[in-house]
Amino acid sequence: MNIIMEKEVLPHHRPQWKTHIGFLLAAIGSAIGLGNIWRFPYLCYKNGGGAFLIPYVLALVIVGIPFMILEIGLGHKMRGSAPASFARVNSRWEWLGWWQIIFVMFGVVLYYSVIIAWCFNYLFFSFGLEWGADPNNFFFNNFLMISTGPFEVGNVRSPVLFSLGVVWFLNWLIVFRGVEKGLERANKLFMPLLFVLILILVGCSINLPGASQGLSVYLKPDFERLKDIRVWIDAVAQIFFTLSIGFGIMIAYASYLPRKSQIVKDSITISVANSCFSLIAGLGVFSVLGYMANKLSLPIDQVVDKSIGLAFVVFPKAIGMLPAFPKIFGVLFFSCLVIAGVSSSVSILEAFTSGIIDKFHYPRKIVASVLAVTGFVGSIMFTTQGGLFWIDIVDHFLTQYGLVLGGILECILIAWIYKAYKLREYLNKFCMLKLSSLWDCAVKFVIPAVLVVIFINSLIKELASPYEGYPWLAIVLIGRDWVIFTLFFAMIVAARRWKRHGKIDD
Ligand code: ALA
Repeated sequence: MNIIMEKEVLPHHRPQWKTHIGFLLAAIGSAIGLGNIWRFPYLCYKNGGGAFLIPYVLALVIVGIPFMILEIGLGHKMRGSAPASFARVNSRWEWLGWWQIIFVMFGVVLYYSVIIAWCFNYLFFSFGLEWGADPNNFFFNNFLMISTGPFEVGNVRSPVLFSLGVVWFLNWLIVFRGVEKGLERANKLFMPLLFVLILILVGCSINLPGASQGLSVYLKPDFERLKDIRVWIDAVAQIFFTLSIGFGIMIAYASYLPRKSQIVKDSITISVANSCFSLIAGLGVFSVLGYMANKLSLPIDQVVDKSIGLAFVVFPKAIGMLPAFPKIFGVLFFSCLVIAGVSSSVSILEAFTSGIIDKFHYPRKIVASVLAVTGFVGSIMFTTQGGLFWIDIVDHFLTQYGLVLGGILECILIAWIYKAYKLREYLNKFCMLKLSSLWDCAVKFVIPAVLVVIFINSLIKELASPYEGYPWLAIVLIGRDWVIFTLFFAMIVAARRWKRHGKIDD
């Protein structure tokens, strides 16, 4: 007997969003994260400028939105976290739900919260422009005191540790207070604030001298680049990460929705709002880079850097060169990163908390507290002098393989085993925007096929040469051992019995 199918096992009283806008803002908050501000603009620049918008928008429409509908629709129908929802589809697949939320909780959020902690440090450094004339030296040598490789771990960097404590305190506080009083209230404050801050930043940046030069590099289409398969892979991988799909978050968030909800419309709104935010953030980032290139009389490709370098080296340098109010600009920029980061990290913690509450009926306050302490302790390895190397390796493997593999398996489970048409018929009963059988086609064939291509391509590249020249041992530790360990852990949790009775504390 599939115990999860027995009605009394799932909570009778499930917390709910108080308002519809509260749900939308929380889901948008989860999607908009560090990746929108530093990763998207760089990817766009690297992959053909305006031409990159073609694969990006196609990936959004063909992969992102259909997958978002699948996750939100599933959470809404099954009214449970990822493990509970998957178990209700087929009890033999419960492990997949656990695996997704375990590798996101004990992988992504551990390093993600350390990067938010750096942003927090930089927010304070902005008041005195403390990175001085050489932000590169400041970031790597003074701030991180970086070691020479991943196995030279060195000491914990105390300023980072302190900020990390603040980040985990915020994560804990928000999840501890529950869906309505914690997540909903926090996002109702965070999201409008983030939109206002980013608009102020962009408004100021596009008026800088040289901004148009930066914008033309950001958006000038180079259609030749579209012949390169990596450009298409980058677009799909970015859509996956940026929409927080395959993380188990959207399933849990949707399980707190009331029955009569416009799932299809909401999924489109969340996805489009997130991509618009990325595009707008890119305008600000490239205007500033254009200004800097202009000021230094350098071509823009000599000032652009990827991800971490862009936020902590190039941007501080540009901020230091601004003609007016550089400190305020720095505070605004790093505040945006902190807010975007926390609204995402908190959603990861919630996805795991929700899974544990569903299965074991432990009180939310205890689950949130234990997880926050575990998360904080687990993040400490990334605050060491060798932490940056591990962040890079873990990020690479989790996004290139973990999320992709989880996505493929999720499509097999929902679209093939459960059957896509059943979920579509369920949604079409009450959604004003109706899904056609094209959606079935997307989740049954197109998305799994695209994800398989990405997976194989990454694997071939990986085997040809170790990622970024890191020692094979580090790669095997994360790429193989860690994956096996989390899988094993997921299987053990899935094998435990569902608690039948007990008060559900929201
Ligand atoms: N969706 C979040 C981001 O893009 C995780 O950073």
